[in-house]
Amino acid sequence: MLSVMEDERVISEELKSEDQAIDLTLRPKTLKDYIGQDAIKANLKIALAAAKQRKEPIEHVLLHGNPGLGKTTLAYVIAHELGVGIRITSGPAIERAGDLAAILTSLADGDILFIDEMHRLNRAIEEVLYPAMEDFKLDLVVGKGPGARTIRLDLPRFTLIGATTRMSVISGPLRDRFGLTFRLDYYQPNDIEKIVQRSAMILGVSLAPEAAQEIARRARRTPRVANRLLKRVRDYAAVKADGKVNKTLAVEALETLSIDPLGLDEIDRRILETIIDKFNGGPVGLSTIAAAIAEETETVEEVYEPFLLQLGFLHRTSRGRVATGEAYKHLGRTPPPEAQRLEV
Ligand code: ADE
Repeated sequence: MLSVMEDERVISEELKSEDQAIDLTLRPKTLKDYIGQDAIKANLKIALAAAKQRKEPIEHVLLHGNPGLGKTTLAYVIAHELGVGIRITSGPAIERAGDLAAILTSLADGDILFIDEMHRLNRAIEEVLYPAMEDFKLDLVVGKGPGARTIRLDLPRFTLIGATTRMSVISGPLRDRFGLTFRLDYYQPNDIEKIVQRSAMILGVSLAPEAAQEIARRARRTPRVANRLLKRVRDYAAVKADGKVNKTLAVEALETLSIDPLGLDEIDRRILETIIDKFNGGPVGLSTIAAAIAEETETVEEVYEPFLLQLGFLHRTSRGRVATGEAYKHLGRTPPPEAQRLEV
């Protein structure tokens, strides 16, 4: 099982696009280089220092927050700071208990196991994880039927770092087994600007400060988006000009990508237009919105909605999603009186 998973990893490494390879070079390796999330960094510093003092692995860490805010990056940073190995997998990739057993037994003492999309871990596998997390033991069932018996194997003292975009779906017993839980929030605009400048420096892009500001302003307060926009602006400047990015070029590039001044893209606007034009501003159910714009329900809920909620353009009510007066105004429409009331 392990060899299959490793093969898959090797194949996916080879197929990595240039963009993904760049993302790896942009990732900070140390807490010092990691911009933003100051409260999390302060707490992590203490946990890391204490673990080093005691010469023990740090406790299991659960990271939650919207996509692109740096959960995986933080896991790499923790491994780097501790000088230990890290094994990356995800909830849906672990199909059988044997898959997890193969991974766990391949770890070295102190290693980190990073499980992304923890909320998609199957419940039977969660059961295998409990004794592994608590006592570093693996209970394996050998054989079938009346002759089946359980053998208990010792595991290395590893640290599990779990990441999820959906904390509410993580079962209570699993949540309770993490010693440290951190919620990553949207970044401060000036931190996003610093990330854009840092990435431009690593990529060797000449970027005017106003251009960095413009990219940061449209990056949804999310590092992954900021780096993506920077790469597209860099391409644009290389093709349309001499590669140096000034504010005018940055704005032109972002407008060409249909990214508006608040960072909304075509799909965000279609979501809002669907609610406003087709459903009179709502309430309308999530699956109806997703069907109307031909997107997956999960993508709408986990990728697009959080930022629209953060902007105050959308409200979630028990009867469905509602567009606020601010959303009407942003799209250049006159809000009806009932949408105005949602502003309070
Ligand atoms: N690149 C992506 N996320 C980052 C962060 N938080 N700090 C620095 N560079 C980053």
